[in-house]
Amino acid sequence: MEFSIKGGDLSKQKTDCVVVGVFDSKKLSTAAAALDKASKGAILAAVSSGDITGKCGSILLLQAVPGITAKRVLLMGYGNEKEYSNKTFVASLSAAFKVLKKCAATDVTIPLNTKHASADIAWKVEQAAILAIDAAYRFNQLKSKADNKNIGKAVTFHLDGKANEKALHAAIKRGNAIGEGMNLTKDLGNMPPNIATPAYLASAAKDLAKAFKFKCTILEKKAMEKLGMNTLLSVSKGSYLPPKFIVLEHNGGKKGAAPVVLVGKGITFDTGGISIKPSAEMDEMKYDMQGAGAMLGAMKTVGMMKLPLNVVMLVPTCENMPGGNATRPGDIVKSMAGHTVEILNTDAEGRLILCDALTYAERFKPAVVVDAATLTGAMVIALGHITTGIFANDDKLAAELVGAGVVANDAAWHLPMGEEYDALLKSNFADIPNISGGRAGGSITAACFLGRFTKSYKWAHMDIAGTAWKSGADKGATGRPVPLLAHFLFKRAGI
Ligand code: BES
Ligand code: MN
Ligand code: ZN
Repeated sequence: MEFSIKGGDLSKQKTDCVVVGVFDSKKLSTAAAALDKASKGAILAAVSSGDITGKCGSILLLQAVPGITAKRVLLMGYGNEKEYSNKTFVASLSAAFKVLKKCAATDVTIPLNTKHASADIAWKVEQAAILAIDAAYRFNQLKSKADNKNIGKAVTFHLDGKANEKALHAAIKRGNAIGEGMNLTKDLGNMPPNIATPAYLASAAKDLAKAFKFKCTILEKKAMEKLGMNTLLSVSKGSYLPPKFIVLEHNGGKKGAAPVVLVGKGITFDTGGISIKPSAEMDEMKYDMQGAGAMLGAMKTVGMMKLPLNVVMLVPTCENMPGGNATRPGDIVKSMAGHTVEILNTDAEGRLILCDALTYAERFKPAVVVDAATLTGAMVIALGHITTGIFANDDKLAAELVGAGVVANDAAWHLPMGEEYDALLKSNFADIPNISGGRAGGSITAACFLGRFTKSYKWAHMDIAGTAWKSGADKGATGRPVPLLAHFLFKRAGI
């Protein structure tokens, strides 16, 4: 996607489509008013027709408007003028891109009102870049006949006056790096589980290492056995596919400075194992590697931004299958940290692969560790598909992540852990069980299990079970929480 910034007469812009706002009072935005003037009232006439309410999300596509060089004018509702905010603009633009996704326009012009505060304009530009890249995203690799309708060529931001162009170019750079990171996450998630195997994730990591000069280490099963990663290995036992443990290192910060360690759950398919899942929608368990997908996507963003920060990514990856050699409910295994774990439910496998990765993280003497995992169905019940759940052993770190989510427009919320939940981790036969407390508070008790392995550093866990993908007609990976992670890292890198 090409991004550029232009000035001049908006009505004379050569573009497939110019996108302008209108309030629910039928009042036109500055840019819409400029086009209305050039078209001798055609815009206001279209609004007066009643075909667009002006409510946020309402849309009207106009073709060949007289007096305007752009091939199309897309009107987008801004809602109530008094309630207009940066977020309204982005929500409106999101509806606009849904229409653009289906029309033949390949390049778009987005006017910016330079009377708004510079920081606000920059935020809108970053968000618009992300939306544009998202709208251009297709997963066509495995279709014999591809759907080529694509707005993927170019986005021009049009300025009606003077603005801090340097800040806007920086915003484009951020938006582009986030959008491209999300696209990688989406591709890895949408790829079917017979292709997106642990080895496939390892090769995706190697590709990133090559492109961005990361250090890449892949630990094979033998090395994991030597390290005593038995909880991880217990999950992969039912599968013919060998597990992998992926390590990526970006040394962009000061030599010896403590790194941020990112850990992503990489279950490339979760059948539940012997505690097998019901078949309805089981295909969606190909997305059970989206913690890993998000961390690989975030590393792409890190690489594209050449972040001045030390970042380590750890991805434990395997498949959770039933089989003659699969782990049984009741099996007890010893984790790398030395705790014995009674596996009462083989479907609570995410925590089993993560706990060994969290122990492995210790050797990097991390500044902080952040993991992302499609860990619990209970998370979807708690926060739905809108907000990511955050759990942490450090309130400041949790607040930092929630704050990054606000800046990134990628919502997350801090949920409690605490001793009363932790006390539920009781096994008659081992140090801890892999499930505790029944269905109630399932996301919290899962976090408490992980918390047993993160005593030596500041740690936060993001349960992305509700936010990593969409079900139904628009089934597909969302690329979340790459934007949140990106802004978390940007701030830590001081950019
Ligand atoms: N990958 C699932 C969690 C999941 C389920 C995410 C549905 C998104 C949608 C995880 O491995 C799992 O199966 N968790 C169990 C835990 C239970 C056995 C304690 C769950 O949530 O049912
Ligand atoms: Mn499971
Ligand atoms: Zn799982």
